[in-house]
Amino acid sequence: MIMAPPLPRVQPLVFDVSILQHQASIPSHFIWPDHEKPCLESPELAIPPVDFGSFLAGDPLAVSKATQLVNEACRKHGFFLVVNHGVDSKLIAKAHEYMNMFFGKQLSEKQRAQRKIGEQYGYASSFTGRFSSKLPWKETLSLRYCADNQSSDIVQEYFSNVMGENFKQFGTVYQEYCEAMNTLSLGIMELLGASLGVGREYFRDFFEGNDSIMRLNYYPPCQKPDLTLGTGPHCDPTSLTILHQDHVGGLQVFVDEKWHSVRPDPEAFVVNIGDTFMALSNGIFKSCLHRAVVNNVTVRKSLAFFLCPKLDKVVKPPNTLIDSKNPRAEESEIIAVDNASAVKEGLGSSWRVLGRKRQQKNRNKRPAL
Ligand code: OGA
Ligand code: NI
Repeated sequence: MIMAPPLPRVQPLVFDVSILQHQASIPSHFIWPDHEKPCLESPELAIPPVDFGSFLAGDPLAVSKATQLVNEACRKHGFFLVVNHGVDSKLIAKAHEYMNMFFGKQLSEKQRAQRKIGEQYGYASSFTGRFSSKLPWKETLSLRYCADNQSSDIVQEYFSNVMGENFKQFGTVYQEYCEAMNTLSLGIMELLGASLGVGREYFRDFFEGNDSIMRLNYYPPCQKPDLTLGTGPHCDPTSLTILHQDHVGGLQVFVDEKWHSVRPDPEAFVVNIGDTFMALSNGIFKSCLHRAVVNNVTVRKSLAFFLCPKLDKVVKPPNTLIDSKNPRAEESEIIAVDNASAVKEGLGSSWRVLGRKRQQKNRNKRPAL
C-alpha cells in the first residue's frame, strides 16, 4: 500500500510585539503595496473646533456659529473637533491608563477575550493568528455598549465574565467612559440635526437606546513606519465616530485627493460622520476615507466610540432632506431595510448592509471595521 506523505503542518503565525517593535526589518505581511504606503509628513487638515458647551447652553450666537462650522465641515469631508465637551478629563486619562495596563499584559491573558473570526467584539491582534497580507500594525479591544435600560451594565459585565473578577476595575472605567460617550453623541446628534435643518430632536431621538461599539486601538512603535499602516484606509460603516487620540498623532484624512494629518489635541474629540449617518442625511453629510500611521518612537493610543442605531431601527433619511436638489442618494436606498429582517437574512444590522455595499464599491479601500 502506498502511503500519502504526511501533510505539512501549518503553524499559526505568531509575531511577538515585544520583539517586533525593536526589529530593524518587519515581516512582509505588514508591508503595504507602494501605492498605499504612508506619507508620514502630510499637510495638516484645518478642521474647525466647535465650542460644544456654548452650543448646548443655547447661546444664539454660539449655536449659529457651531451649526455653520459643522455644516461646512460635514458637507466637505465629515470631520470636525469638539472642545469644551464636558467629558471629565480624569475619566479620559483613566481610560488611556487602563489601555496601557490591558495591552501591557501577557498575550495569553489578553487572549481570554480573543475575538473569533466573524465576531465583532473582543481582543484582536494582527501580530498573531491571521495569515494574510497588508496586516495593520496594531492590537484592539472591541466592546459592545447598549444604551437601553435592560443592558445598562454590559461593559462592566463583559470584563468580569470574560476576563475575570480581577478585571472588574477595567469594566468600571470603560462602562463609565461609554456612558459619557453616549451622552456626548446624543448631544452631537442635536448639533447635526440643527445643522441639517431637521431640528435638534430628530436624530437625538433616533439614537436613543443605541447599540454601539467601543474600540481601544493600541499601536506599538515600528522601526519601519514608512512601510506599514496602523489602520488601513477605510470609511467607518457606523453612524458617528467619537475619537480621542493621545498626544502622539497618526490619524490622516483623505481630502481634496490627498492625505492630511489631524493634529492631536488631548483637550478635543475628533468627530466623524460614518456611512450610516451619510445615508440618514441623504448623502448631504459625507463619510470620508481615513487611516492611521505609526511611528518608530512611541506607542500611540486612541479610544473610538462608534455610535450605531438600536437594532430594530429602519435607517432612511427624513423626507425633508429629500428634494429635487437632493434626490434620494444611492446609500439610503441600500439601507432602507429594517434591521430585524436584515438580521433574519443573516446580514447583521442594516448599517452592516450599507458597509458591505460600500465595501464592494471601494473594494480596495476598506478593511473590515
Ligand atoms: C478607527 C480609526 C483611527 C485612529 O478605529 O476606525 O479610524 O486614529 N482609528 O486610531
Ligand atoms: Ni475609522
